[in-house]
Amino acid sequence: MEKKRIVISGASGFIGSELCRYFASRNYEVIGLVRSIPDKTIPNTLFIKHNLGESVPRGVFSPGTIFVHGSYVRSTQKINSSELNISGSEKLVAAARENACSRIVFLSSFSSGSDASSAYGKEKYAVEKFFEGSDGLVLRLGWVAGKGGSFYKVYERIIKGGTLPLIGGGNQPVQLLAVSDLGPMMEKAIAGNLNGLFFVAQTEAVSLRDFAKLIWNKQNRKGRFLSIPYFLAKIAAGMAGNLKIPFPVDKENILGLKDAKPREVDSFLKKVDFSIVSPGEILEKENLFQ
Ligand SMILES: NC(=O)c1ccc[n+]([C@@H]2O[C@H](COP(=O)([O-])OP(=O)(O)OC[C@H]3O[C@@H](n4cnc5c(N)ncnc54)[C@H](OP(=O)(O)O)[C@@H]3O)[C@@H](O)[C@H]2O)c1
Repeated sequence: MEKKRIVISGASGFIGSELCRYFASRNYEVIGLVRSIPDKTIPNTLFIKHNLGESVPRGVFSPGTIFVHGSYVRSTQKINSSELNISGSEKLVAAARENACSRIVFLSSFSSGSDASSAYGKEKYAVEKFFEGSDGLVLRLGWVAGKGGSFYKVYERIIKGGTLPLIGGGNQPVQLLAVSDLGPMMEKAIAGNLNGLFFVAQTEAVSLRDFAKLIWNKQNRKGRFLSIPYFLAKIAAGMAGNLKIPFPVDKENILGLKDAKPREVDSFLKKVDFSIVSPGEILEKENLFQ
């Protein structure tokens, strides 16, 4: 039987590389779009160079291809990142549709919204619009747990123990999902021709503070919290940004934290017949308690 082709943008990233590994193991023909060819190969994955905003090389998309859009330009890159994220995504979607791709999937975020405080949330919302239609699926992801991405940076800081600064007291709700669950869920959603917009994460939200306590308990570590008001964190991040001093969070992160609220995820989980377990089980699944 002919293999189904899946094209994944952002294939060198935390989530993109995991999706390449998963779909390659499920006998798909995987094409990963990357800014530069990674040193580390992924079995059965062909990397092709692509920068957001550029035309997609001929032959990448073909009738019936599944396209998963996971590339994202950070605001720290010295370019107009917002403009590039939006116009570059529109170009990719247009190319996918011109070439009769069967499904287009966008990795959006809980932060997405027309009224989001962060530029990140507003960009995601703008890009989601290109994925509207019977071929489109928008997955607004919670915080993706695994050995990479923004999650792992925070996780590494928490396991150190000691004093943990918590912006806004750390009462923001967190809904996690294991990065290794994303491929199987996405495969089911695609096979079921699911379209529309869904929040994807564990059902129960925990506070960032409780999440840190859970990790300390599991790792037999001790730590204490230092609560930092939003306005102080914003001033410090702004100053560090202007002076180009490394700082653990930027203004965008702080705005995202301020907007965080629990989301309804059951409609997606039911549709793909999947249950996402407690934060502890997600961390076990990703081998983060070794
Ligand atoms: N991680 C999470 O918890 C989470 C939660 C919700 C939504 N998401 C969304 O999921 C997507 C993937 O996230 P991630 O955590 O895997 O992020 P990531 O590791 O930073 O991956 C981003 C990818 O985008 C690529 N990229 C950066 N600038 C580019 C450009 N100018 N042109 C083309 N590609 C470019 C990166 O390539 P390089 O390797 O060359 O930099 C990388 O492959 C993002 O859209 C993110 O917003 C993530």
